[in-house]
Amino acid sequence: MNIQEALLARSKAYTPYSKFKVGAAILLKDGTYIHGANVENGSYGLTNCAERSALFSLISQGYNPKDIVEITIIGEGPKPISPCGGCRQVMHELIPHTAKVFLANLNGDFKETTVTELLPYGFD
Ligand code: THU
Repeated sequence: MNIQEALLARSKAYTPYSKFKVGAAILLKDGTYIHGANVENGSYGLTNCAERSALFSLISQGYNPKDIVEITIIGEGPKPISPCGGCRQVMHELIPHTAKVFLANLNGDFKETTVTELLPYGFD
């Protein structure tokens, strides 16, 4: 888990509508971190969540999702952030099921999980 990297990712969020900033930091086998933040749009349904931003950025930059070791996702709240259903499906397809998924909030609470636990019987 790397909270500092996830916070750095979160600092880049574009959230003029919800003001709810989320960051995701993906660690690759070679030590590279890929950041993603939520990017909102005035046509609200076009918003991209932080997890998907990070994964789409990883692919767009030519990295291999098979090299993902772990992802840390952080957002403000009383409990660690809970990824939306759409992001769970995208993570199910792109993140190795052996990778660690850390969900965190700003108070130091966190949960370690996996994509299989987040989306049992996911579509593939
Ligand atoms: N959001 C994320 O980026 N990731 C999550 O795991 C939950 C929700 C974003 C979408 C939207 O920009 C804002 O949080 C409020 O829903």
